[in-house]
Amino acid sequence: MIETNITKIFGLKHPIFSAPMGPFFTRELALAVSEAGGLGVLSNVNIIGTDPVEEHKASLEYMVEHTDKPFGLNILTSRNNRGVRQMVRQLPKIVLNNPKMRDQCKYWLTSAGSSKILPESKSFQELRENSEVKHFHVAPAVWLAQKCIDAKVDGLVCTGTEGGGHQSYEKVSTLVLLQQLNKTFPDLPKIACGGFATGEGLVAALSLGAGAIAMGSRFIASKQSEFHDKYKSLVPPGKPQDTSLYTGAFGPIRLYKNKYALSHPAPSSKEEMITYEQSITPEQRVHDLGAYDRVYEGDIETGAVLLGQSIGIIDSIDDVNDIIETIIKQAEIIIKKNYTMIK
Ligand SMILES: Cc1cc2nc3c(=O)[nH]c(=O)nc-3n(C[C@H](O)[C@H](O)[C@H](O)COP(=O)(O)O)c2cc1C
Repeated sequence: MIETNITKIFGLKHPIFSAPMGPFFTRELALAVSEAGGLGVLSNVNIIGTDPVEEHKASLEYMVEHTDKPFGLNILTSRNNRGVRQMVRQLPKIVLNNPKMRDQCKYWLTSAGSSKILPESKSFQELRENSEVKHFHVAPAVWLAQKCIDAKVDGLVCTGTEGGGHQSYEKVSTLVLLQQLNKTFPDLPKIACGGFATGEGLVAALSLGAGAIAMGSRFIASKQSEFHDKYKSLVPPGKPQDTSLYTGAFGPIRLYKNKYALSHPAPSSKEEMITYEQSITPEQRVHDLGAYDRVYEGDIETGAVLLGQSIGIIDSIDDVNDIIETIIKQAEIIIKKNYTMIK
């Protein structure tokens, strides 16, 4: 077993988290990851026609019914995400009023927007005072991590540019980002994210000061994930070069290069990206939102296929339990081998 500050904070067997993958459902995946000894995360489901508070509530109920293990949830705090205010106000109340949820839903991850909205919510403050919950926020750069510290987060998810799906304008690799954040905030609990799928990756993350890894693409290619079989079938044999950064209604995003992705620009600077995003018409926005529904139904050509460069190191679609056990075994072998290098 590998014990770290993160496994101790959350009471985990293994330092492995599933990354949130909204707007898609990841209820079965989160359950499988938590049951396997990692920490499963419920995604912020906001596909057209759904109520994000109700979706989270149903997932929370599902989790406490099926497992006694810890888990977490994600709230996308970007301005254009539906129902952010309602989620930060109502979800803490729902969790506080259910002792099993309060004890198990320990990991509250915000991302893609302000790190202050959740801690400013009175109901989250009440939940924090009466439970062991921890608030983490995704930080893709040092200056954004500083904002998280000012918002008094309990920890950071350090996501580099190679990661799949929701991205930032910063374009810093996970390798460099982790070293920067470890130097700047050595004592803050950190979870490494973006590009992880193997035991080697886990050992690298731990060496760089993280206490766990979070994986998205690796878990898409699992038997338990709710993604369409056609989506999963792109992972192996995918190559890192099959993905690229694009922009659209949700801001910067790493996509598999299909027809949908190639119809979007990949601007070279933050300014260019912002100019493009401001030019998006309401019709285009609806079309972009529809791309998530389409891919959920298996349209991997005109749907948005969010994947990271890590697809290049994923060889098969496996059971979540086997994925986690294999990574831990590999990591233990490497840590022991590395130790023998010391003379
Ligand atoms: C299908 C998909 C959907 C995603 N949706 C979200 C999301 O709702 N919130 C978020 O913070 N990150 C989201 N991300 C980013 C992941 O949480 C994570 O940063 C990424 O998967 C890490 O890179 P990896 O795919 O190489 O593991 C998404 C990623 C994918 C692949």
